[in-house]
Amino acid sequence: MSLLSVRNLRIYYSSSRGIVKAVDGVTFDIEREETLGIVGESGCGKSTLAMGLLDILPPSANISGEIILDGENILEKEKEYLRKIRHEKVALIFQDPMTRLDPLMKIKDHFLETFRSHKRDVKEEEALRIAGNLMNSVGLSPEVLDYYPHELSGGMRQRAMIALALVFNPQLLIADEPTTSLDVIVEAQILQLMNKIKKEFHMSIILITHNLGIVAEMADRVAVMYAGKIVEIGSLADIFTRPLHPYTRGLLGSVITLESRELVTMPGEPPDLINPPKGCRFAPRCPYAIEMCMNSEPSLQEAVKGHSVACFRALELMEERDILYRGDIAEKAD
Ligand SMILES: Nc1ncnc2c1ncn2[C@@H]1O[C@H](COP(=O)(O)OP(=O)(O)OP(=O)(O)O)[C@@H](O)[C@H]1O
Ligand code: SF4
Ligand SMILES: [Mg+2]
Repeated sequence: MSLLSVRNLRIYYSSSRGIVKAVDGVTFDIEREETLGIVGESGCGKSTLAMGLLDILPPSANISGEIILDGENILEKEKEYLRKIRHEKVALIFQDPMTRLDPLMKIKDHFLETFRSHKRDVKEEEALRIAGNLMNSVGLSPEVLDYYPHELSGGMRQRAMIALALVFNPQLLIADEPTTSLDVIVEAQILQLMNKIKKEFHMSIILITHNLGIVAEMADRVAVMYAGKIVEIGSLADIFTRPLHPYTRGLLGSVITLESRELVTMPGEPPDLINPPKGCRFAPRCPYAIEMCMNSEPSLQEAVKGHSVACFRALELMEERDILYRGDIAEKAD
Protein backbone atom coordinates (compact mmCIF):
# COMPACT_ATOMS: atom_id res chain seq x y z
CA MET A 1 0.00 0.00 0.00
CA SER A 2 1.32 3.45 -0.91
CA LEU A 3 1.95 5.90 1.94
CA LEU A 4 -0.17 8.53 0.20
CA SER A 5 -2.70 8.16 -2.61
CA VAL A 6 -4.27 11.33 -3.95
CA ARG A 7 -7.28 10.78 -6.19
CA ASN A 8 -8.97 13.38 -8.37
CA LEU A 9 -8.12 16.19 -5.96
CA ARG A 10 -9.68 19.56 -6.75
CA ILE A 11 -8.96 22.77 -4.88
CA TYR A 12 -10.90 25.80 -6.09
CA TYR A 13 -10.60 29.32 -4.62
CA SER A 14 -13.55 31.69 -4.67
CA SER A 15 -12.36 35.16 -5.64
CA SER A 16 -13.96 38.43 -6.71
CA ARG A 17 -13.07 37.56 -10.33
CA GLY A 18 -14.60 34.07 -10.17
CA ILE A 19 -13.60 30.50 -9.25
CA VAL A 20 -9.84 29.85 -9.53
CA LYS A 21 -9.32 26.17 -10.39
CA ALA A 22 -5.89 26.01 -8.78
CA VAL A 23 -5.73 22.20 -8.49
CA ASP A 24 -8.04 20.46 -10.90
CA GLY A 25 -8.24 16.68 -10.78
CA VAL A 26 -4.82 15.66 -9.51
CA THR A 27 -4.03 11.95 -8.97
CA PHE A 28 -0.75 10.45 -7.77
CA ASP A 29 0.79 8.07 -5.23
CA ILE A 30 3.84 8.32 -3.01
CA GLU A 31 5.60 5.23 -1.78
CA ARG A 32 7.31 4.95 1.57
CA GLU A 33 10.76 6.54 1.80
CA GLU A 34 10.41 7.97 -1.70
CA THR A 35 11.11 11.55 -2.79
CA LEU A 36 8.64 12.93 -5.33
CA GLY A 37 9.73 16.16 -7.00
CA ILE A 38 6.92 18.47 -8.18
CA VAL A 39 7.87 20.98 -10.84
CA GLY A 40 6.03 23.51 -12.96
CA GLU A 41 5.88 27.20 -13.73
CA SER A 42 4.72 29.80 -11.23
CA GLY A 43 0.99 29.71 -10.50
CA CYS A 44 0.38 26.10 -11.63
CA GLY A 45 -0.96 25.05 -8.20
CA LYS A 46 2.05 23.49 -6.46
CA SER A 47 1.71 25.36 -3.16
CA THR A 48 -2.08 24.98 -3.21
CA LEU A 49 -1.62 21.22 -3.53
CA ALA A 50 0.85 21.23 -0.59
CA MET A 51 -1.52 23.28 1.57
CA GLY A 52 -4.41 21.00 0.64
CA LEU A 53 -2.48 17.91 1.74
CA LEU A 54 -1.87 19.56 5.10
CA ASP A 55 -5.29 21.16 5.53
CA ILE A 56 -3.95 24.67 5.89
CA LEU A 57 -5.86 26.23 2.99
CA PRO A 58 -7.43 29.67 3.41
CA PRO A 59 -11.22 29.74 4.01
CA SER A 60 -11.85 30.78 0.39
CA ALA A 61 -10.62 27.36 -0.79
CA ASN A 62 -12.93 24.43 -1.47
CA ILE A 63 -11.36 20.97 -1.57
CA SER A 64 -12.77 17.69 -2.94
CA GLY A 65 -11.50 14.28 -4.00
CA GLU A 66 -9.61 11.72 -1.94
CA ILE A 67 -6.43 11.96 0.10
CA ILE A 68 -5.64 8.47 1.38
CA LEU A 69 -2.87 8.61 3.95
CA ASP A 70 -1.65 5.31 5.32
CA GLY A 71 -4.91 3.64 4.21
CA GLU A 72 -7.33 6.29 5.54
CA ASN A 73 -9.22 8.81 3.46
CA ILE A 74 -8.41 11.83 5.57
CA LEU A 75 -10.79 14.08 3.62
CA GLU A 76 -13.73 12.05 4.94
CA LYS A 77 -13.04 12.19 8.67
CA GLU A 78 -14.23 14.55 11.37
CA LYS A 79 -12.27 17.79 11.24
CA GLU A 80 -10.45 17.46 14.60
CA TYR A 81 -9.36 13.89 14.04
CA LEU A 82 -8.31 14.68 10.51
CA ARG A 83 -6.20 17.63 11.57
CA LYS A 84 -4.43 15.65 14.26
CA ILE A 85 -3.53 12.80 11.91
CA ARG A 86 -2.36 15.10 9.18
CA HIS A 87 -0.29 17.30 11.37
CA GLU A 88 1.44 14.40 13.03
CA LYS A 89 1.97 12.26 9.94
CA VAL A 90 2.61 15.09 7.49
CA ALA A 91 4.90 18.05 8.07
CA LEU A 92 5.58 21.09 5.92
CA ILE A 93 8.59 23.32 5.51
CA PHE A 94 8.42 26.56 3.55
CA GLN A 95 10.63 28.81 1.54
CA ASP A 96 10.68 31.42 4.29
CA PRO A 97 10.74 29.97 7.82
CA MET A 98 9.95 33.43 9.24
CA THR A 99 6.37 33.01 8.04
CA ARG A 100 6.02 30.09 10.48
CA LEU A 101 8.27 31.29 13.32
CA ASP A 102 6.98 33.86 15.79
CA PRO A 103 9.63 36.58 16.21
CA LEU A 104 8.62 37.06 19.86
CA MET A 105 9.09 33.40 20.78
CA LYS A 106 12.37 31.59 21.43
CA ILE A 107 12.96 28.44 19.37
CA LYS A 108 12.29 26.29 22.46
CA ASP A 109 8.89 27.94 22.93
CA HIS A 110 7.98 26.90 19.39
CA PHE A 111 8.66 23.29 20.38
CA LEU A 112 6.67 23.61 23.62
CA GLU A 113 3.79 25.21 21.72
CA THR A 114 3.84 22.39 19.16
CA PHE A 115 3.46 19.76 21.92
CA ARG A 116 0.77 21.86 23.64
CA SER A 117 -1.28 22.41 20.48
CA HIS A 118 -1.38 18.65 19.92
CA LYS A 119 -2.52 18.13 23.50
CA ARG A 120 0.46 15.90 24.09
CA ASP A 121 0.89 15.24 27.76
CA VAL A 122 4.65 15.75 27.81
CA LYS A 123 6.45 17.39 30.72
CA GLU A 124 8.45 20.48 29.79
CA GLU A 125 11.72 18.78 30.70
CA GLU A 126 10.95 15.83 28.41
CA ALA A 127 9.77 18.15 25.59
CA LEU A 128 13.04 20.09 25.79
CA ARG A 129 15.04 16.85 25.78
CA ILE A 130 13.25 15.77 22.58
CA ALA A 131 13.78 19.27 21.13
CA GLY A 132 17.52 19.11 21.97
CA ASN A 133 17.87 15.73 20.25
CA LEU A 134 16.08 17.04 17.16
CA MET A 135 18.36 20.09 17.10
CA ASN A 136 21.32 17.69 17.09
CA SER A 137 19.74 15.72 14.23
CA VAL A 138 19.59 18.85 12.08
CA GLY A 139 23.13 19.92 12.92
CA LEU A 140 22.29 22.67 15.43
CA SER A 141 23.48 22.90 19.02
CA PRO A 142 20.67 22.47 21.60
CA GLU A 143 21.80 25.88 22.94
CA VAL A 144 20.12 27.43 19.89
CA LEU A 145 16.79 26.57 21.57
CA ASP A 146 17.35 29.67 23.70
CA TYR A 147 17.66 31.96 20.68
CA TYR A 148 14.98 34.09 19.05
CA PRO A 149 14.39 33.46 15.32
CA HIS A 150 16.01 36.78 14.29
CA GLU A 151 19.23 35.73 16.02
CA LEU A 152 19.67 32.88 13.51
CA SER A 153 21.02 32.94 9.95
CA GLY A 154 18.68 31.90 7.11
CA GLY A 155 20.24 28.42 6.99
CA MET A 156 19.99 27.95 10.78
CA ARG A 157 16.36 29.05 10.70
CA GLN A 158 15.56 26.52 8.01
CA ARG A 159 17.33 23.82 10.09
CA ALA A 160 15.27 24.85 13.16
CA MET A 161 12.13 24.70 11.00
CA ILE A 162 13.05 21.17 9.89
CA ALA A 163 13.67 20.14 13.54
CA LEU A 164 10.21 21.47 14.45
CA ALA A 165 8.69 19.57 11.53
CA LEU A 166 10.15 16.34 12.93
CA VAL A 167 8.56 16.56 16.41
CA PHE A 168 5.91 13.90 15.78
CA ASN A 169 8.10 11.71 13.61
CA PRO A 170 6.12 12.44 10.41
CA GLN A 171 5.93 9.91 7.61
CA LEU A 172 5.77 12.58 4.94
CA LEU A 173 7.67 15.85 4.72
CA ILE A 174 6.40 18.42 2.21
CA ALA A 175 9.09 20.93 1.33
CA ASP A 176 7.78 23.91 -0.68
CA GLU A 177 10.75 25.71 -2.26
CA PRO A 178 12.76 25.05 0.93
CA THR A 179 15.99 26.59 -0.30
CA THR A 180 14.90 29.41 -2.60
CA SER A 181 15.88 32.17 -0.18
CA LEU A 182 19.29 30.62 0.64
CA ASP A 183 22.65 31.00 -1.05
CA VAL A 184 24.03 28.08 -3.08
CA ILE A 185 26.32 26.68 -0.36
CA VAL A 186 23.67 26.76 2.37
CA GLU A 187 21.17 25.35 -0.14
CA ALA A 188 23.43 22.34 -0.74
CA GLN A 189 23.76 21.80 3.03
CA ILE A 190 19.99 21.92 3.58
CA LEU A 191 19.39 19.46 0.72
CA GLN A 192 22.00 17.14 2.20
CA LEU A 193 20.28 17.45 5.58
CA MET A 194 16.92 16.57 4.01
CA ASN A 195 18.41 13.40 2.54
CA LYS A 196 19.96 12.51 5.90
CA ILE A 197 16.75 12.93 7.88
CA LYS A 198 14.77 11.14 5.19
CA LYS A 199 16.88 8.03 5.87
CA GLU A 200 17.02 8.49 9.65
CA PHE A 201 13.29 9.06 10.07
CA HIS A 202 12.21 6.71 7.21
CA MET A 203 10.19 9.52 5.64
CA SER A 204 8.83 10.20 2.19
CA ILE A 205 9.37 13.69 0.81
CA ILE A 206 7.39 15.85 -1.61
CA LEU A 207 9.83 18.42 -2.88
CA ILE A 208 8.33 21.39 -4.69
CA THR A 209 10.79 23.49 -6.62
CA HIS A 210 11.40 25.57 -9.74
CA ASN A 211 14.94 24.29 -9.79
CA LEU A 212 15.30 21.24 -12.04
CA GLY A 213 18.91 20.78 -10.87
CA ILE A 214 17.63 20.18 -7.33
CA VAL A 215 15.04 17.72 -8.61
CA ALA A 216 17.72 15.83 -10.54
CA GLU A 217 19.76 15.55 -7.37
CA MET A 218 17.01 14.67 -4.89
CA ALA A 219 14.00 13.03 -6.52
CA ASP A 220 13.21 9.37 -7.17
CA ARG A 221 10.12 10.30 -9.18
CA VAL A 222 8.97 13.56 -10.73
CA ALA A 223 5.50 15.02 -11.33
CA VAL A 224 5.19 17.88 -13.80
CA MET A 225 2.29 20.25 -13.13
CA TYR A 226 0.73 22.59 -15.65
CA ALA A 227 -2.28 24.83 -15.02
CA GLY A 228 -3.60 22.87 -12.01
CA LYS A 229 -3.00 19.39 -13.43
CA ILE A 230 -0.29 16.76 -13.43
CA VAL A 231 0.61 16.41 -17.10
CA GLU A 232 3.41 13.87 -16.71
CA ILE A 233 4.72 11.67 -13.90
CA GLY A 234 7.45 9.06 -13.89
CA SER A 235 10.85 8.07 -12.59
CA LEU A 236 13.58 10.69 -12.59
CA ALA A 237 15.18 8.96 -15.60
CA ASP A 238 11.83 8.82 -17.46
CA ILE A 239 11.21 12.52 -17.01
CA PHE A 240 14.74 13.76 -17.59
CA THR A 241 15.90 11.46 -20.34
CA ARG A 242 12.67 10.18 -21.92
CA PRO A 243 10.16 13.02 -21.46
CA LEU A 244 6.93 12.66 -23.42
CA HIS A 245 4.79 15.72 -22.74
CA PRO A 246 5.59 18.73 -24.93
CA TYR A 247 5.49 20.92 -21.79
CA THR A 248 8.09 18.75 -20.01
CA ARG A 249 10.23 18.87 -23.13
CA GLY A 250 9.92 22.66 -23.07
CA LEU A 251 10.88 22.86 -19.39
CA LEU A 252 13.90 20.66 -19.94
CA GLY A 253 14.76 22.65 -23.03
CA SER A 254 15.04 25.77 -20.90
CA VAL A 255 17.42 23.96 -18.57
CA ILE A 256 19.66 22.99 -21.43
CA THR A 257 19.72 26.56 -22.69
CA LEU A 258 20.27 27.80 -19.13
CA GLU A 259 23.34 25.62 -18.93
CA SER A 260 24.57 27.09 -22.17
CA ARG A 261 23.84 30.47 -20.51
CA GLU A 262 21.22 31.44 -23.03
CA LEU A 263 18.13 32.21 -21.03
CA VAL A 264 15.22 31.30 -23.26
CA THR A 265 11.91 30.64 -21.55
CA MET A 266 9.09 28.77 -23.15
CA PRO A 267 7.03 31.04 -25.40
CA GLY A 268 3.61 32.07 -24.09
CA GLU A 269 2.13 32.01 -20.62
CA PRO A 270 0.12 29.56 -18.54
CA PRO A 271 -3.67 30.11 -18.90
CA ASP A 272 -5.91 32.00 -16.51
CA LEU A 273 -7.17 29.37 -14.06
CA ILE A 274 -10.57 31.06 -13.81
CA ASN A 275 -11.29 30.36 -17.43
CA PRO A 276 -8.82 27.75 -18.71
CA PRO A 277 -8.95 26.49 -22.33
CA LYS A 278 -11.62 23.82 -22.71
CA GLY A 279 -9.38 21.26 -24.42
CA CYS A 280 -5.77 20.57 -23.46
CA ARG A 281 -4.65 23.44 -21.23
CA PHE A 282 -1.27 23.49 -22.93
CA ALA A 283 -2.73 23.70 -26.46
CA PRO A 284 -2.27 27.49 -26.92
CA ARG A 285 1.49 27.03 -26.39
CA CYS A 286 1.97 23.56 -27.83
CA PRO A 287 3.92 23.17 -31.09
CA TYR A 288 2.24 19.76 -31.63
CA ALA A 289 -1.38 20.87 -31.07
CA ILE A 290 -3.99 19.51 -33.49
CA GLU A 291 -7.70 20.31 -33.71
CA MET A 292 -8.68 17.58 -31.24
CA CYS A 293 -6.47 19.22 -28.59
CA MET A 294 -8.58 22.39 -28.71
CA ASN A 295 -11.85 20.55 -28.04
CA SER A 296 -11.16 17.65 -25.69
CA GLU A 297 -9.04 17.26 -22.64
CA PRO A 298 -6.39 14.50 -22.51
CA SER A 299 -6.35 12.42 -19.30
CA LEU A 300 -3.25 11.13 -17.55
CA GLN A 301 -2.57 7.67 -19.03
CA GLU A 302 0.25 5.22 -18.50
CA ALA A 303 2.36 5.26 -21.69
CA VAL A 304 5.13 2.99 -20.47
CA LYS A 305 5.12 1.12 -17.15
CA GLY A 306 5.37 3.66 -14.33
CA HIS A 307 5.41 6.62 -16.73
CA SER A 308 2.13 8.46 -17.32
CA VAL A 309 1.38 11.41 -19.54
CA ALA A 310 -1.66 13.53 -20.43
CA CYS A 311 -1.25 14.14 -24.15
CA PHE A 312 -3.19 12.81 -27.15
CA ARG A 313 0.00 12.60 -29.16
CA ALA A 314 2.23 10.98 -26.53
CA LEU A 315 2.65 7.72 -28.47
CA GLU A 316 3.55 9.54 -31.69
CA LEU A 317 5.97 11.68 -29.71
CA MET A 318 7.44 8.57 -28.17
CA GLU A 319 8.05 7.11 -31.63
CA GLU A 320 9.52 10.37 -32.85
CA ARG A 321 11.78 10.52 -29.83
CA ASP A 322 12.88 6.91 -30.29
CA ILE A 323 13.56 7.50 -33.98
CA LEU A 324 15.64 10.54 -33.07
CA TYR A 325 17.43 8.49 -30.45
CA ARG A 326 18.11 5.64 -32.83
CA GLY A 327 19.33 8.17 -35.37
CA ASP A 328 21.66 9.52 -32.75
CA ILE A 329 23.09 6.08 -32.01
CA ALA A 330 23.43 5.32 -35.72
CA GLU A 331 25.33 8.57 -36.17
CA LYS A 332 27.67 7.71 -33.32
CA ALA A 333 28.19 4.23 -34.75
CA ASP A 334 29.22 5.63 -38.15
N1 LIG B 1 -6.03 32.63 -1.71
C1 LIG B 1 -6.17 32.59 -3.02
N2 LIG B 1 -7.30 33.09 -3.61
C2 LIG B 1 -7.46 33.04 -4.95
N3 LIG B 1 -6.54 32.52 -5.80
C3 LIG B 1 -5.41 32.03 -5.27
C4 LIG B 1 -5.15 32.04 -3.86
N4 LIG B 1 -3.94 31.49 -3.63
C5 LIG B 1 -3.46 31.13 -4.85
N5 LIG B 1 -4.34 31.46 -5.84
C6 LIG B 1 -4.19 31.20 -7.28
O1 LIG B 1 -4.12 29.80 -7.46
C7 LIG B 1 -3.22 29.48 -8.50
C8 LIG B 1 -2.16 28.53 -7.97
O2 LIG B 1 -1.33 29.21 -7.04
P1 LIG B 1 -0.15 28.49 -6.24
O3 LIG B 1 0.39 29.47 -5.28
O4 LIG B 1 -0.65 27.20 -5.71
O5 LIG B 1 0.90 28.20 -7.42
P2 LIG B 1 2.42 27.74 -7.33
O6 LIG B 1 2.58 26.68 -8.38
O7 LIG B 1 2.79 27.38 -5.94
O8 LIG B 1 3.20 29.05 -7.80
P3 LIG B 1 4.68 29.54 -7.39
O9 LIG B 1 5.62 28.67 -8.20
O10 LIG B 1 4.71 30.96 -7.84
O11 LIG B 1 4.85 29.37 -5.91
C9 LIG B 1 -2.67 30.80 -9.01
O12 LIG B 1 -3.43 31.16 -10.13
C10 LIG B 1 -2.91 31.75 -7.87
O13 LIG B 1 -3.09 33.05 -8.32
S1 SF4 C 1 -2.72 17.05 -26.08
FE1 SF4 C 1 -2.25 18.25 -27.91
S2 SF4 C 1 -1.97 20.35 -27.19
FE2 SF4 C 1 -1.90 19.01 -25.41
S3 SF4 C 1 0.25 18.63 -25.12
FE3 SF4 C 1 -0.52 16.97 -26.39
S4 SF4 C 1 -0.20 17.61 -28.52
FE4 SF4 C 1 0.04 19.42 -27.20
MG1 LIG D 1 4.23 28.13 -4.60
